[in-house]
Amino acid sequence: MVTKPKGCHDIYGTEAKKWQYVNKVIDSLMEKYNYSYIRTPIFESSEVFHRGMGETTDVVTKETYDFVDRANRKMTLRPEGTAGIVRSYIENKMYGNMPNPVKLYYNGTMYRYERPQSGRDRELTQFGVELLGSDDPLSDAEVISIPVNLFKILGLQEIKVKINSLGDNASRNNYREALKKYFEPHISSFCEDCQERFVKNPLRILDCKVDKDNPILKNAPKTLDYLNEESNLRFEKVKEYLKALEVDYEVDPKLVRGLDYYNHTVFEIEAHVEGFGSNNVLGAGGRYNGLVELLDGPKTPGVGFACGIGRLMMALDLENIDLDIKDDVEIFVMAVSDTEKNYAVTLVQSLRMSGFKVEMDYTDRNLKGQFKQADRLNAKYLIILNDKDLAKNEIKVKNNITKEEITLELDYLLYYFDEVLQDEEYINENEDLTSDIECSCHHHDCKCHHEEGE
Ligand code: HAM
Repeated sequence: MVTKPKGCHDIYGTEAKKWQYVNKVIDSLMEKYNYSYIRTPIFESSEVFHRGMGETTDVVTKETYDFVDRANRKMTLRPEGTAGIVRSYIENKMYGNMPNPVKLYYNGTMYRYERPQSGRDRELTQFGVELLGSDDPLSDAEVISIPVNLFKILGLQEIKVKINSLGDNASRNNYREALKKYFEPHISSFCEDCQERFVKNPLRILDCKVDKDNPILKNAPKTLDYLNEESNLRFEKVKEYLKALEVDYEVDPKLVRGLDYYNHTVFEIEAHVEGFGSNNVLGAGGRYNGLVELLDGPKTPGVGFACGIGRLMMALDLENIDLDIKDDVEIFVMAVSDTEKNYAVTLVQSLRMSGFKVEMDYTDRNLKGQFKQADRLNAKYLIILNDKDLAKNEIKVKNNITKEEITLELDYLLYYFDEVLQDEEYINENEDLTSDIECSCHHHDCKCHHEEGE
Protein backbone atom coordinates (compact mmCIF):
# COMPACT_ATOMS: atom_id res chain seq x y z
CA MET A 1 0.00 0.00 0.00
CA VAL A 2 1.27 3.44 -0.86
CA THR A 3 1.13 5.73 2.18
CA LYS A 4 1.25 9.49 2.66
CA PRO A 5 4.65 11.15 3.13
CA LYS A 6 5.94 11.53 6.70
CA GLY A 7 4.76 14.63 8.52
CA CYS A 8 1.70 15.07 6.27
CA HIS A 9 -1.97 14.53 7.07
CA ASP A 10 -5.19 13.55 5.33
CA ILE A 11 -7.88 15.84 6.67
CA TYR A 12 -11.36 14.39 6.05
CA GLY A 13 -14.75 13.69 7.59
CA THR A 14 -15.59 15.53 10.81
CA GLU A 15 -12.06 16.89 11.08
CA ALA A 16 -12.38 18.47 7.63
CA LYS A 17 -15.69 20.03 8.72
CA LYS A 18 -13.88 21.60 11.68
CA TRP A 19 -11.18 23.01 9.39
CA GLN A 20 -13.84 24.45 7.09
CA TYR A 21 -15.60 26.00 10.06
CA VAL A 22 -12.38 27.60 11.33
CA ASN A 23 -11.59 28.85 7.81
CA LYS A 24 -15.01 30.49 7.63
CA VAL A 25 -14.48 32.19 10.98
CA ILE A 26 -11.10 33.43 9.71
CA ASP A 27 -12.60 34.81 6.47
CA SER A 28 -15.38 36.47 8.39
CA LEU A 29 -12.97 38.03 10.92
CA MET A 30 -10.63 39.26 8.19
CA GLU A 31 -13.57 40.92 6.48
CA LYS A 32 -14.20 42.91 9.68
CA TYR A 33 -10.57 44.02 9.87
CA ASN A 34 -10.68 44.89 6.15
CA TYR A 35 -7.79 42.61 5.18
CA SER A 36 -7.86 41.32 1.62
CA TYR A 37 -7.12 37.72 0.73
CA ILE A 38 -3.92 36.98 -1.15
CA ARG A 39 -2.84 33.74 -2.83
CA THR A 40 0.78 33.46 -3.89
CA PRO A 41 2.56 30.48 -5.49
CA ILE A 42 3.33 27.41 -3.37
CA PHE A 43 6.83 27.48 -4.83
CA GLU A 44 9.05 30.48 -5.47
CA SER A 45 12.60 31.07 -6.68
CA SER A 46 14.79 29.81 -3.84
CA GLU A 47 16.27 33.29 -3.58
CA VAL A 48 13.01 34.71 -2.17
CA PHE A 49 13.34 32.62 0.99
CA HIS A 50 17.12 32.52 1.22
CA ARG A 51 17.37 36.29 1.10
CA GLY A 52 14.06 36.97 2.81
CA MET A 53 14.24 34.64 5.80
CA GLY A 54 18.02 34.73 6.25
CA GLU A 55 20.73 32.34 5.06
CA THR A 56 21.60 31.31 8.62
CA THR A 57 18.12 30.51 9.88
CA ASP A 58 17.34 26.87 10.69
CA VAL A 59 14.39 26.92 8.30
CA VAL A 60 16.58 27.93 5.35
CA THR A 61 19.71 25.90 6.17
CA LYS A 62 17.99 22.65 7.10
CA GLU A 63 14.30 22.66 6.42
CA THR A 64 13.46 23.86 2.93
CA TYR A 65 12.23 21.58 0.17
CA ASP A 66 14.49 22.71 -2.66
CA PHE A 67 14.37 21.46 -6.23
CA VAL A 68 15.69 22.31 -9.62
CA ASP A 69 13.05 22.58 -12.33
CA ARG A 70 13.45 21.24 -15.87
CA ALA A 71 15.08 24.48 -16.99
CA ASN A 72 17.59 24.30 -14.12
CA ARG A 73 16.00 27.06 -12.05
CA LYS A 74 16.42 26.74 -8.29
CA MET A 75 13.00 26.58 -6.66
CA THR A 76 11.77 26.15 -3.08
CA LEU A 77 8.41 25.02 -1.72
CA ARG A 78 7.33 27.90 0.49
CA PRO A 79 8.25 27.28 4.15
CA GLU A 80 6.24 30.37 5.22
CA GLY A 81 4.11 33.10 3.68
CA THR A 82 5.83 36.39 4.49
CA ALA A 83 8.76 36.40 2.03
CA GLY A 84 6.54 35.37 -0.92
CA ILE A 85 3.95 38.01 -0.07
CA VAL A 86 6.62 40.71 0.17
CA ARG A 87 7.94 39.52 -3.21
CA SER A 88 4.40 39.87 -4.59
CA TYR A 89 3.93 43.31 -2.93
CA ILE A 90 7.03 44.54 -4.74
CA GLU A 91 6.45 42.80 -8.08
CA ASN A 92 2.84 44.01 -8.30
CA LYS A 93 3.74 47.50 -7.05
CA MET A 94 1.05 47.28 -4.40
CA TYR A 95 2.72 50.24 -2.66
CA GLY A 96 1.51 52.40 -5.55
CA ASN A 97 -1.77 50.87 -6.61
CA MET A 98 -3.45 49.80 -3.38
CA PRO A 99 -4.56 52.01 -0.46
CA ASN A 100 -1.79 52.35 2.13
CA PRO A 101 -1.27 50.44 4.38
CA VAL A 102 -1.73 47.27 2.34
CA LYS A 103 -3.47 44.71 4.55
CA LEU A 104 -3.24 41.14 3.28
CA TYR A 105 -4.17 37.74 4.69
CA TYR A 106 -3.48 34.21 3.56
CA ASN A 107 -4.36 30.69 4.54
CA GLY A 108 -2.44 27.89 2.89
CA THR A 109 0.02 25.03 3.03
CA MET A 110 3.71 25.52 3.80
CA TYR A 111 6.50 22.93 3.64
CA ARG A 112 9.33 22.39 6.10
CA TYR A 113 11.62 19.37 6.19
CA GLU A 114 11.47 18.97 9.96
CA ARG A 115 11.58 15.92 12.20
CA PRO A 116 7.88 15.09 12.39
CA GLN A 117 6.36 15.00 15.86
CA SER A 118 3.18 16.16 17.53
CA GLY A 119 2.55 19.74 16.38
CA ARG A 120 5.51 19.70 14.00
CA ASP A 121 4.63 18.68 10.46
CA ARG A 122 6.33 18.72 7.09
CA GLU A 123 3.20 19.95 5.36
CA LEU A 124 1.58 22.56 7.58
CA THR A 125 -1.18 25.09 7.08
CA GLN A 126 -0.76 28.68 8.16
CA PHE A 127 -3.27 31.47 8.41
CA GLY A 128 -1.42 34.77 8.53
CA VAL A 129 -1.60 38.49 7.89
CA GLU A 130 0.91 41.01 6.58
CA LEU A 131 0.36 44.74 7.04
CA LEU A 132 2.70 46.71 4.80
CA GLY A 133 3.24 50.46 4.82
CA SER A 134 2.68 51.43 8.45
CA ASP A 135 5.25 51.92 11.20
CA ASP A 136 2.62 53.03 13.72
CA PRO A 137 2.92 50.97 16.97
CA LEU A 138 -0.85 50.66 16.72
CA SER A 139 -0.39 48.31 13.76
CA ASP A 140 1.89 46.02 15.82
CA ALA A 141 -0.70 45.87 18.61
CA GLU A 142 -3.61 45.34 16.25
CA VAL A 143 -1.79 42.54 14.41
CA ILE A 144 -1.16 40.80 17.77
CA SER A 145 -4.82 41.21 18.67
CA ILE A 146 -6.04 39.43 15.52
CA PRO A 147 -5.01 35.86 16.49
CA VAL A 148 -5.95 36.63 20.10
CA ASN A 149 -9.46 37.57 19.00
CA LEU A 150 -9.66 34.59 16.64
CA PHE A 151 -8.83 32.24 19.52
CA LYS A 152 -11.35 34.05 21.73
CA ILE A 153 -14.13 33.65 19.16
CA LEU A 154 -13.34 29.97 18.79
CA GLY A 155 -13.56 29.60 22.57
CA LEU A 156 -9.92 28.90 23.49
CA GLN A 157 -9.17 29.84 27.10
CA GLU A 158 -5.69 28.58 27.84
CA ILE A 159 -3.46 30.88 25.83
CA LYS A 160 -0.53 33.08 26.72
CA VAL A 161 0.73 36.04 24.67
CA LYS A 162 4.47 36.72 24.92
CA ILE A 163 6.00 39.86 23.48
CA ASN A 164 9.46 41.37 23.22
CA SER A 165 11.29 44.05 21.28
CA LEU A 166 14.51 43.63 19.33
CA GLY A 167 14.61 47.39 18.75
CA ASP A 168 15.70 49.21 15.61
CA ASN A 169 18.84 48.29 13.64
CA ALA A 170 21.12 50.30 15.91
CA SER A 171 19.73 48.61 19.04
CA ARG A 172 19.91 45.22 17.39
CA ASN A 173 23.55 45.80 16.43
CA ASN A 174 24.43 46.87 19.99
CA TYR A 175 22.77 43.77 21.29
CA ARG A 176 24.52 41.58 18.75
CA GLU A 177 27.90 42.94 19.83
CA ALA A 178 27.04 42.38 23.51
CA LEU A 179 26.03 38.80 22.76
CA LYS A 180 29.26 38.18 20.86
CA LYS A 181 31.32 39.44 23.76
CA TYR A 182 29.30 37.37 26.20
CA PHE A 183 29.45 34.10 24.25
CA GLU A 184 33.06 34.37 23.02
CA PRO A 185 34.80 32.70 26.01
CA HIS A 186 32.19 29.86 26.12
CA ILE A 187 31.37 29.20 22.49
CA SER A 188 33.48 26.03 22.21
CA SER A 189 31.11 24.33 24.70
CA PHE A 190 28.14 24.94 22.36
CA CYS A 191 26.90 22.74 19.50
CA GLU A 192 28.45 22.95 16.04
CA ASP A 193 25.50 24.92 14.66
CA CYS A 194 25.86 27.50 17.42
CA GLN A 195 29.54 27.92 16.64
CA GLU A 196 28.54 28.83 13.11
CA ARG A 197 25.73 31.05 14.40
CA PHE A 198 28.26 32.83 16.60
CA VAL A 199 30.09 33.98 13.48
CA LYS A 200 27.09 34.69 11.25
CA ASN A 201 24.25 35.68 13.57
CA PRO A 202 24.72 35.28 17.36
CA LEU A 203 21.02 36.02 18.04
CA ARG A 204 20.25 32.61 16.57
CA ILE A 205 22.12 30.97 19.48
CA LEU A 206 19.28 32.02 21.80
CA ASP A 207 16.94 29.96 19.63
CA CYS A 208 19.06 26.79 19.74
CA LYS A 209 17.08 23.65 20.47
CA VAL A 210 20.22 21.64 21.39
CA ASP A 211 21.74 24.04 23.91
CA LYS A 212 18.49 25.44 25.26
CA ASP A 213 19.22 24.31 28.86
CA ASN A 214 22.82 25.47 28.94
CA PRO A 215 23.06 27.96 31.87
CA ILE A 216 25.36 30.18 29.83
CA LEU A 217 22.57 30.56 27.31
CA LYS A 218 20.00 31.10 30.05
CA ASN A 219 22.00 33.99 31.56
CA ALA A 220 22.72 35.69 28.25
CA PRO A 221 22.14 39.47 27.94
CA LYS A 222 18.56 40.53 27.25
CA THR A 223 17.40 42.49 24.21
CA LEU A 224 15.53 45.07 26.28
CA ASP A 225 18.73 46.23 28.01
CA TYR A 226 20.12 47.30 24.63
CA LEU A 227 17.18 49.23 23.20
CA ASN A 228 17.88 52.88 22.45
CA GLU A 229 15.43 55.47 23.69
CA GLU A 230 13.40 55.61 20.51
CA SER A 231 12.97 51.84 20.40
CA ASN A 232 12.07 51.80 24.06
CA LEU A 233 9.39 54.45 23.61
CA ARG A 234 8.03 52.58 20.63
CA PHE A 235 7.77 49.37 22.64
CA GLU A 236 5.96 51.26 25.43
CA LYS A 237 3.43 52.52 22.85
CA VAL A 238 2.82 48.98 21.57
CA LYS A 239 2.12 47.87 25.14
CA GLU A 240 -0.27 50.81 25.68
CA TYR A 241 -2.24 49.89 22.57
CA LEU A 242 -2.31 46.23 23.63
CA LYS A 243 -3.90 47.34 26.89
CA ALA A 244 -6.44 49.42 24.97
CA LEU A 245 -7.21 46.33 22.89
CA GLU A 246 -7.58 44.29 26.09
CA VAL A 247 -4.86 41.85 25.14
CA ASP A 248 -3.21 40.26 28.19
CA TYR A 249 0.47 39.79 27.54
CA GLU A 250 3.72 38.94 29.21
CA VAL A 251 7.06 40.51 28.25
CA ASP A 252 9.56 37.74 27.56
CA PRO A 253 12.99 39.32 27.17
CA LYS A 254 14.41 36.06 25.76
CA LEU A 255 12.07 35.93 22.81
CA VAL A 256 14.04 36.54 19.61
CA ARG A 257 12.21 34.34 17.01
CA GLY A 258 13.84 32.05 14.50
CA LEU A 259 13.75 34.19 11.34
CA ASP A 260 16.18 36.99 10.45
CA TYR A 261 13.80 39.62 9.18
CA TYR A 262 12.46 40.85 12.52
CA ASN A 263 13.13 44.12 14.30
CA HIS A 264 11.18 45.96 17.01
CA THR A 265 8.17 43.93 18.15
CA VAL A 266 8.22 40.13 18.16
CA PHE A 267 5.54 37.93 19.70
CA GLU A 268 4.36 34.38 20.20
CA ILE A 269 1.05 33.01 21.42
CA GLU A 270 1.29 29.74 23.30
CA ALA A 271 -1.33 27.11 24.11
CA HIS A 272 -1.25 26.19 27.78
CA VAL A 273 -3.81 23.44 27.84
CA GLU A 274 -2.62 20.21 29.45
CA GLY A 275 -1.39 17.56 27.06
CA PHE A 276 -0.24 19.87 24.30
CA GLY A 277 3.45 18.98 24.38
CA SER A 278 6.38 21.19 23.60
CA ASN A 279 5.37 22.52 20.17
CA ASN A 280 2.79 24.76 21.76
CA VAL A 281 3.24 28.01 19.85
CA LEU A 282 -0.07 28.51 18.06
CA GLY A 283 0.91 31.70 16.30
CA ALA A 284 3.84 34.05 16.05
CA GLY A 285 5.10 37.09 14.22
CA GLY A 286 6.55 40.52 14.47
CA ARG A 287 7.75 43.62 12.69
CA TYR A 288 10.07 43.44 9.69
CA ASN A 289 10.92 46.98 8.58
CA GLY A 290 13.89 45.98 6.41
CA LEU A 291 12.42 43.09 4.44
CA VAL A 292 10.84 44.96 1.53
CA GLU A 293 14.13 46.73 0.83
CA LEU A 294 16.08 43.51 1.22
CA LEU A 295 13.98 42.00 -1.58
CA ASP A 296 14.67 45.07 -3.79
CA GLY A 297 11.49 47.04 -3.04
CA PRO A 298 11.09 50.59 -1.74
CA LYS A 299 11.77 51.20 1.97
CA THR A 300 8.51 50.00 3.54
CA PRO A 301 7.72 49.01 7.12
CA GLY A 302 5.82 45.77 7.71
CA VAL A 303 4.34 43.68 10.49
CA GLY A 304 2.54 40.34 10.48
CA PHE A 305 1.95 36.97 12.06
CA ALA A 306 1.16 33.40 11.12
CA CYS A 307 -0.81 30.80 13.01
CA GLY A 308 -0.47 27.03 12.53
CA ILE A 309 -3.98 25.74 11.85
CA GLY A 310 -3.01 22.14 12.73
CA ARG A 311 -1.84 23.29 16.17
CA LEU A 312 -4.96 25.40 16.57
CA MET A 313 -7.13 22.34 15.85
CA MET A 314 -5.15 20.39 18.48
CA ALA A 315 -5.76 23.14 21.05
CA LEU A 316 -9.50 23.14 20.26
CA ASP A 317 -9.62 19.37 20.75
CA LEU A 318 -7.63 19.44 23.98
CA GLU A 319 -9.87 22.18 25.40
CA ASN A 320 -12.87 20.04 24.38
CA ILE A 321 -14.40 22.85 22.38
CA ASP A 322 -17.43 21.81 20.38
CA LEU A 323 -17.52 23.88 17.23
CA ASP A 324 -21.03 24.54 16.00
CA ILE A 325 -20.81 22.04 13.17
CA LYS A 326 -24.05 20.74 11.76
CA ASP A 327 -23.40 17.71 9.71
CA ASP A 328 -26.95 16.62 9.00
CA VAL A 329 -28.86 16.60 5.75
CA GLU A 330 -32.00 18.74 5.51
CA ILE A 331 -34.01 16.68 3.06
CA PHE A 332 -33.62 13.11 1.79
CA VAL A 333 -35.64 12.37 -1.35
CA MET A 334 -36.70 8.71 -1.62
CA ALA A 335 -37.52 7.09 -4.91
CA VAL A 336 -37.60 3.46 -6.05
CA SER A 337 -39.31 3.00 -9.46
CA ASP A 338 -37.80 4.50 -12.63
CA THR A 339 -40.48 7.19 -12.89
CA GLU A 340 -40.06 8.10 -9.22
CA LYS A 341 -36.31 8.26 -9.67
CA ASN A 342 -36.55 10.45 -12.79
CA TYR A 343 -38.84 12.78 -10.90
CA ALA A 344 -36.50 12.75 -7.90
CA VAL A 345 -33.50 13.82 -10.00
CA THR A 346 -35.26 17.01 -11.10
CA LEU A 347 -36.76 17.65 -7.67
CA VAL A 348 -33.42 17.24 -5.87
CA GLN A 349 -31.79 19.71 -8.25
CA SER A 350 -34.54 22.26 -7.79
CA LEU A 351 -34.40 21.94 -3.97
CA ARG A 352 -30.59 22.33 -4.02
CA MET A 353 -30.83 25.39 -6.27
CA SER A 354 -33.33 26.81 -3.77
CA GLY A 355 -30.70 26.55 -1.05
CA PHE A 356 -31.48 23.30 0.75
CA LYS A 357 -29.02 20.55 1.60
CA VAL A 358 -30.49 17.53 -0.14
CA GLU A 359 -29.54 13.88 -0.60
CA MET A 360 -30.96 10.89 -2.49
CA ASP A 361 -30.01 7.28 -3.08
CA TYR A 362 -27.27 6.41 -5.59
CA THR A 363 -26.96 2.66 -5.06
CA ASP A 364 -30.37 1.16 -5.93
CA ARG A 365 -31.43 0.62 -2.33
CA ASN A 366 -34.98 -0.50 -1.67
CA LEU A 367 -37.26 1.75 0.37
CA LYS A 368 -36.17 0.18 3.68
CA GLY A 369 -32.52 0.69 2.77
CA GLN A 370 -33.23 4.32 1.87
CA PHE A 371 -34.87 4.93 5.27
CA LYS A 372 -31.74 3.53 6.93
CA GLN A 373 -29.46 5.68 4.78
CA ALA A 374 -31.54 8.79 5.62
CA ASP A 375 -31.05 7.98 9.32
CA ARG A 376 -27.29 7.50 8.85
CA LEU A 377 -27.11 10.94 7.25
CA ASN A 378 -29.29 12.47 10.00
CA ALA A 379 -31.86 13.66 7.48
CA LYS A 380 -34.40 16.03 9.04
CA TYR A 381 -37.11 15.63 6.42
CA LEU A 382 -37.90 12.79 4.05
CA ILE A 383 -39.72 13.23 0.77
CA ILE A 384 -41.21 9.86 -0.08
CA LEU A 385 -42.04 9.84 -3.78
CA ASN A 386 -44.62 7.46 -5.03
CA ASP A 387 -46.12 7.09 -8.52
CA LYS A 388 -49.72 7.29 -7.27
CA ASP A 389 -49.18 10.56 -5.37
CA LEU A 390 -47.27 12.06 -8.28
CA ALA A 391 -50.19 11.30 -10.61
CA LYS A 392 -52.32 13.48 -8.29
CA ASN A 393 -49.65 16.23 -8.10
CA GLU A 394 -49.07 15.38 -4.47
CA ILE A 395 -46.05 14.55 -2.41
CA LYS A 396 -45.48 12.92 1.01
CA VAL A 397 -43.19 14.66 3.47
CA LYS A 398 -42.14 13.07 6.74
CA ASN A 399 -40.49 14.87 9.62
CA ASN A 400 -37.75 12.34 10.43
CA ILE A 401 -37.46 13.56 14.01
CA THR A 402 -41.11 13.71 15.11
CA LYS A 403 -42.08 11.02 12.53
CA GLU A 404 -45.10 13.15 11.58
CA GLU A 405 -46.15 12.66 7.96
CA ILE A 406 -48.13 15.04 5.74
CA THR A 407 -49.24 15.12 2.13
CA LEU A 408 -48.58 18.35 0.26
CA GLU A 409 -49.53 19.76 -3.09
CA LEU A 410 -46.43 19.78 -5.28
CA ASP A 411 -46.62 23.53 -5.93
CA TYR A 412 -46.49 24.19 -2.21
CA LEU A 413 -43.34 22.15 -1.52
CA LEU A 414 -40.72 24.93 -1.69
CA TYR A 415 -42.83 27.28 0.44
CA TYR A 416 -43.24 24.52 2.99
CA PHE A 417 -39.49 23.93 3.32
CA ASP A 418 -38.79 27.65 3.36
CA GLU A 419 -41.06 27.80 6.36
CA VAL A 420 -39.89 24.76 8.33
CA LEU A 421 -36.19 25.00 7.62
CA GLN A 422 -35.72 28.76 7.65
CA ASP A 423 -34.50 28.90 11.23
CA GLU A 424 -32.07 26.07 10.86
CA GLU A 425 -29.50 27.64 8.58
CA TYR A 426 -26.06 26.18 8.28
CA ILE A 427 -22.99 28.37 8.43
CA ASN A 428 -23.20 30.49 5.34
CA GLU A 429 -21.66 33.64 4.00
CA ASN A 430 -24.29 35.82 5.61
CA GLU A 431 -23.95 34.40 9.05
CA ASP A 432 -21.95 36.59 11.37
CA LEU A 433 -19.55 34.21 13.04
CA THR A 434 -17.63 36.99 14.73
CA SER A 435 -20.51 38.63 16.55
CA ASP A 436 -19.00 37.59 19.89
CA ILE A 437 -16.06 39.94 19.53
CA GLU A 438 -17.64 42.97 21.09
CA CYS A 439 -19.96 41.02 23.30
CA SER A 440 -20.35 42.55 26.73
CA CYS A 441 -23.26 40.26 27.56
CA HIS A 442 -25.30 43.09 29.04
CA HIS A 443 -27.59 43.47 26.04
CA HIS A 444 -30.87 41.65 26.21
CA ASP A 445 -30.62 40.80 22.50
CA CYS A 446 -27.02 39.54 22.57
CA LYS A 447 -26.77 36.25 20.71
CA CYS A 448 -23.64 35.06 22.49
CA HIS A 449 -23.63 32.04 24.78
CA HIS A 450 -21.90 33.71 27.71
CA GLU A 451 -23.34 34.27 31.13
CA GLU A 452 -23.74 37.87 32.24
CA GLY A 453 -20.38 39.30 33.29
CA GLU A 454 -18.41 36.36 31.92
P1 HAM B 1 6.91 30.77 12.31
O1 HAM B 1 7.12 31.01 13.76
O2 HAM B 1 7.99 30.05 11.60
O3 HAM B 1 6.65 32.20 11.68
O4 HAM B 1 5.55 29.99 12.12
C1 HAM B 1 4.33 30.51 12.57
C2 HAM B 1 3.46 29.41 13.13
O5 HAM B 1 3.30 28.36 12.18
C3 HAM B 1 4.06 28.71 14.34
O6 HAM B 1 3.83 29.44 15.51
C4 HAM B 1 3.30 27.40 14.33
O7 HAM B 1 2.02 27.55 14.89
C5 HAM B 1 3.16 27.12 12.85
N1 HAM B 1 4.23 26.19 12.40
C6 HAM B 1 5.48 26.51 12.02
N2 HAM B 1 6.17 25.41 11.69
C7 HAM B 1 5.33 24.36 11.87
C8 HAM B 1 5.43 22.94 11.69
N3 HAM B 1 6.52 22.37 11.22
N4 HAM B 1 4.35 22.17 11.96
C9 HAM B 1 3.19 22.74 12.42
N5 HAM B 1 3.04 24.06 12.60
C10 HAM B 1 4.08 24.86 12.33
C11 HAM B 1 6.43 32.40 10.36
O8 HAM B 1 6.21 31.52 9.56
C12 HAM B 1 6.39 33.86 9.97
N6 HAM B 1 6.17 33.94 8.52
C13 HAM B 1 5.30 34.58 10.73
C14 HAM B 1 5.20 36.02 10.33
C15 HAM B 1 4.31 36.54 9.49
N7 HAM B 1 5.99 36.96 10.73
C16 HAM B 1 5.64 38.10 10.15
N8 HAM B 1 4.62 37.84 9.36
